[in-house]
Amino acid sequence: MGHSLLYMMGFFLLSTVICGNAKDYSTDLQEDDDLSPPKPTVTLQPSWTQIYSGETVTVRCEIQGGEGAQWTYEWRPAKLNTPPTSNEYRINSTTESDSGGYSCRGRRDSSWTKWSDITSLKVTAPPKPTVTLQPSWTQIYSGVIYSGETVTVRCEIQGGEGAQWTYEWRRGRVNIRQSSNEYRIIRVTESDGGGYSCRGRRSSSWTKWSDITTLRVTVPSKPTVTLQPSWTQIYSGETVTVRCEIQGGEGAQWTYEWRPAKLNTPPTSSEFKIITVTESDGGGYICRGTKTYLLTEWSDTITLTVSSKPKAELRADNTAVPVGGSVTLTCSVNPSSSSSSSSSSSGWKYYWYRDGKSYEPVTNGQISVSEGGLYSCRGGRGEPVYYTEDSDSVRIDTTVSNRPVVTLYPNWSEIYRGETITVRCEIHGGDTEWDYEWETNSMIKAPNQTEYRIRSASSSNSGNYRCKGRMKSSQHKTTEWSDSVTLTVSDNKPRPVLTVSPSWLSPGASVTLNCQVEHPSAGWSFYWYKAVPDLSEKSSSYELLPDGSGTAQDSYIIHGQTHTAGYVCRAGRGDPEYHTDHSQPEFVWSADVHSAASLTVSPDRVQHFTSDSVSLTCEGNFTEWRVRKFSEDGRLSDCRRMTGSTCNINTSESDTGVYWCESGSGEFSSAVNITVQNDGNGPILVSPVHPVTEGASVSLSCSLKTQKYFPMCFLSQ
Ligand SMILES: *[C@@H]1O[C@H](CO)[C@@H](O)[C@H](O)[C@H]1NC(C)=O
Ligand SMILES: *[C@@H]1O[C@H](CO)[C@@H](O)[C@H](O)[C@H]1NC(C)=O
Ligand SMILES: *[C@@H]1O[C@H](CO)[C@@H](O)[C@H](O)[C@H]1NC(C)=O
Ligand SMILES: *[C@@H]1O[C@H](CO)[C@@H](O)[C@H](O)[C@H]1NC(C)=O
Ligand SMILES: *[C@@H]1O[C@H](CO)[C@@H](O)[C@H](O)[C@H]1NC(C)=O
Ligand SMILES: *[C@@H]1O[C@H](CO)[C@@H](O)[C@H](O)[C@H]1NC(C)=O
Repeated sequence: MGHSLLYMMGFFLLSTVICGNAKDYSTDLQEDDDLSPPKPTVTLQPSWTQIYSGETVTVRCEIQGGEGAQWTYEWRPAKLNTPPTSNEYRINSTTESDSGGYSCRGRRDSSWTKWSDITSLKVTAPPKPTVTLQPSWTQIYSGVIYSGETVTVRCEIQGGEGAQWTYEWRRGRVNIRQSSNEYRIIRVTESDGGGYSCRGRRSSSWTKWSDITTLRVTVPSKPTVTLQPSWTQIYSGETVTVRCEIQGGEGAQWTYEWRPAKLNTPPTSSEFKIITVTESDGGGYICRGTKTYLLTEWSDTITLTVSSKPKAELRADNTAVPVGGSVTLTCSVNPSSSSSSSSSSSGWKYYWYRDGKSYEPVTNGQISVSEGGLYSCRGGRGEPVYYTEDSDSVRIDTTVSNRPVVTLYPNWSEIYRGETITVRCEIHGGDTEWDYEWETNSMIKAPNQTEYRIRSASSSNSGNYRCKGRMKSSQHKTTEWSDSVTLTVSDNKPRPVLTVSPSWLSPGASVTLNCQVEHPSAGWSFYWYKAVPDLSEKSSSYELLPDGSGTAQDSYIIHGQTHTAGYVCRAGRGDPEYHTDHSQPEFVWSADVHSAASLTVSPDRVQHFTSDSVSLTCEGNFTEWRVRKFSEDGRLSDCRRMTGSTCNINTSESDTGVYWCESGSGEFSSAVNITVQNDGNGPILVSPVHPVTEGASVSLSCSLKTQKYFPMCFLSQ
C-alpha cells in the first residue's frame, strides 16, 4: 500500500517535470516555507475506507478558516481540476483506477496555500455474498431438510462488516420480499425448496449475486422398492426388474436415485431391468425420488438373492407301470422359494420330456403316465422363460403279464462254501426275446444275464434273488419281478456222522455202516473207507472199501467181517463234485483172540479198583504198536505211557472203555472191555478179560481193595 502510494507521488513529480510547469514548481518550493496561509484538508464522502467500484464518492478540499473567501482549487492528480471553482468533486461511479492519493491547494488572489496532506482512496471490486443455511447440518447434507422444520437462509458479505447493507433475495428467478441479511423460514414446505441467492447494496451500488445454494425439502413419503417378478429367490440368468414406487407421487416427474449406485442410469426411469442376473447382482437395494427441490426419504431395503442355476428333480412313485395302471411323476425345483407347495409363489411351470421329446403340453408339477419311456423334466418361469437344468432321467417301464421264475440249479436249499450253483431266470410263454435284470441283496451282484453261474460259492452270494425280463424289441416293456428265491451259502464245511452196527462182532453177522449229512435229501452220494493205522503220523489213513465210491445209498453193508476194524465215510455232490469232510472214525470190535495180534491185560480182569496199576500188552509178530481206547463218552484216544508194546495205566474212572492194539503194519488186535470201579469202597468182580471158550472152566471171585482176594461172592452160570 505504502509502496504504491510512493510510486504514485513519484509519478506526479515526474509528470510535473515532463509537463514543464517549472515556474509553479519553483514557486511551490519557495512558498512551502511561508507559514501564513492555511493548509487545506482532503475529505472523502462517504468516509468508508473501502469503496467498491461503482459506488459514488465525493472528494472535497476544505480550507480551515477560509470560508467566505473566493477560492480556486488545484488538485493532484490533475483530473479533478475542472471546474476549479468548486471545492468538491463527485465520482459518480468509481472504478478501481480511481484508487490513489488525493491532495489539493487553494488560491486566493494570487497566493496559493500549501498542498494538503494526501488522502488515499481505495476502490476494489465489490464482494460476492455467500448464502448459508442454518442449522449447519443442512449444509452438510447438501441442503436437505424435512418439511415442517425451521431453516434460516443467511447472506454473508465477506469484508462488508460495519457498512449499512440492504439485501435482495431470490429463489430461482423469483424475487423475495426480504431486505435483511437473514431469511428465516418457520415450518418449511415443499414450496420453500429451491436455489437461493442474494446480493447486498450500500449507498447506491449492488454487490454481485451470490452463487446459488439449494434448499431441498424432503417430504416424508417413502418409496418402495419392488422386484418384478416378485420371487425372492432368483436364479442366475433370470431377468429381474427393480422398481422404485413412490406412493402418491404418480404423475410427477421424478428422477430416481439408487443404492447401490449402479442402477442410476437412466435416472428418469423408475425401474431398472437386469436382463441376465448374476450372483453379483444379489444384495440390498434402496431408492429415493428427487424432483426439482424435493427429495423423498430412502426406501426400505429389498434384498435380491441370486442362486446358481437350479436343477429340476424328478421323482416317480414307481418305476414300473403295473398292468392296466399308471405311475405318478413329480417334478420340483429346489431350493423352492418359501412355500414349495404353491407353485404360484415360486412361479415355476414344468416341462415334461419322454425319450427326449416334449411330452404332453402340461405345466403341472405332477403327471400320471401309463406309457413306458425315459422321462425327464425341467422348470421354467418368467418372461422370457428362464429354464432350469433338466432333471436326471427316470426310466418308466410298462409291465407285461409274464412272470419269471427264479430257479436254483441244483435246487439245494443249503449250499456250502466252494460249491458250484446256477441261479436262473426263466420266463415261460411266447417266443419273445428277453434281456434279464437281477435284483439281489447279496454282497456280490448278479450280472444281467439269464443265468448267474457261481463257480465257487461263498457267503457273499447269500441273499434273496429276483429277476425280471425286458423285451429286446421294446425296451420299456418288462415283466413283473419274479418271486424272490433265497440262496444260503454256509461257510462251514459239513461233516457227516457215521454209525456202525453192531459194535461187537458176532460170528457170521453183517456189519452195517450208515452215513448222515445234515441235509440228507440234497443230492448227496457217499464214500466209504476203512481206517488203516499210520503210527508215524499218529493218525490213520483211509482206504476206499470195495464198491464204496459214490453210492447213492447212505448205508453200506460189510459181510463176513471177523476182525476189529475202523471205518470212515464222507459225502459228495454236484458237478464239479464238492466233498464234505471225513466223518469221525467208527469201530467194530472183535473179541476173538485167535488173530494175528492180541492184547493181554494184567491183572487179567475186566474190573479194576481206582489207582490200580494195570498193564496192557500187545502181542504178535510186529515191531510197532499203539494201544487205542474208545471211552464211554465216545472219544478215541491213544495210550500215552507205552513201554515197548506195553501200555501202563494208573487207573482212574475215566479209563473205563474199550481197548485194542494196532500194529505198524495195520493189524488190529481183539478188543477188551475194561471197567474202573467208580464206588471207592465196593467190591469188584474178578473175571477174565477174554471170553472163555465153551466148556472151559473159569474161576470168578469178588475182591475188596483192602484184601487181595476173598472167596467167591457168587457164580452165575
Ligand atoms: C454525476 O451525477 C450528477 C447528478 O446525478 C450529474 O448532474 C452529473 O452530471 C454527473 N457527473 C458525471 C461526470 O456523470
Ligand atoms: C428240486 O428239483 C426236483 C426236480 O428237479 C424236485 O423234485 C424237487 O422237489 C426240488 N426240490 C426243491 C427243494 O425245490
Ligand atoms: C442290471 O440292470 C439294472 C437296470 O438297468 C442296473 O440297475 C444294474 O446295475 C445292472 N446290474 C449289473 C450287474 O450290471
Ligand atoms: C464189552 O461190553 C459190551 C457191552 O458192555 C458187550 O456187548 C461186549 O460183548 C463186551 N465185550 C467183551 C469182549 O467182553
Ligand atoms: C497212582 O496214582 C495215585 C494217585 O494219583 C498215586 O497215589 C499212586 O502212587 C500212583 N501209582 C503208581 C503206581 O503210579
Ligand atoms: C515172524 O515174522 C517173521 C518175518 O515175517 C518170520 O520169519 C517169523 O517166522 C515169524 N514168527 C512167528 C512166530 O510167526
